[in-house]
Amino acid sequence: MSSFLSKAFTARDSAETRTFYDDWASSYEAEITALGYATPARCAAALRKYAGETNAPVLDFGCGTGLAGQALKDAGFTVIDGVDLSAAMLAEAQAKDVYRSLTQIEPGQALPFADGAYALMAAVGVIGAGAAPAGALHTLMRKLPKGGKLVLTQNDHTLKDPAFRGALSEWTDCGAARLLFREDGPHLPGINLNATVYVIEKA
Ligand SMILES: C[S@@+](CC[C@H](N)C(=O)[O-])C[C@H]1O[C@@H](n2cnc3c(N)ncnc32)[C@H](O)[C@@H]1O
Repeated sequence: MSSFLSKAFTARDSAETRTFYDDWASSYEAEITALGYATPARCAAALRKYAGETNAPVLDFGCGTGLAGQALKDAGFTVIDGVDLSAAMLAEAQAKDVYRSLTQIEPGQALPFADGAYALMAAVGVIGAGAAPAGALHTLMRKLPKGGKLVLTQNDHTLKDPAFRGALSEWTDCGAARLLFREDGPHLPGINLNATVYVIEKA
């Protein structure tokens, strides 16, 4: 395990997160692919199941080097836009023939698109321990139109933190969003790490 992976799920602020992923960018993909990174394909299949059509634009939030975007494309989605904090991760994604657009975003600032612009969103391995804070879920859900769908994941580390479970419950418990899909399964099998995949629909 690299020094990056050993620290990947440690709490840090957004400036440290950006630096961490900038530094990891060139070796990230080879490392987690070698560990059997299963979550992108699981998320893409789950979103495909509920998406209805595959030509609507999909926002890949925290797209990183593009592994989730590639899985979405492989599942049939044709228009995929990526956003991420890390310029170096985005540069790796740019090298793939996957995204319509790639945009660097600033933590805590408004996302650079109109409310309702994306009825399909993915946050794969992003909102959780060591990456985006629980509030990122609220940011995405506010941007999603009524009937829009978000696929997201919570790995074993994230599931232990009540802030992330609580953020999801804030939407589903009061009926502001409907839980369409929940599946526990492999995340990084090479280190015996699992993740839950959720698809939620904004009411
Ligand atoms: C574990 S990687 C996952 C990347 C990609 N989704 C994948 O499945 O390979 C986490 C990504 O989230 C990004 N990230 C962390 N905090 C973020 C935030 N607040 N907003 C947007 N992206 C963020 C990181 O820069 C990194 O690229």
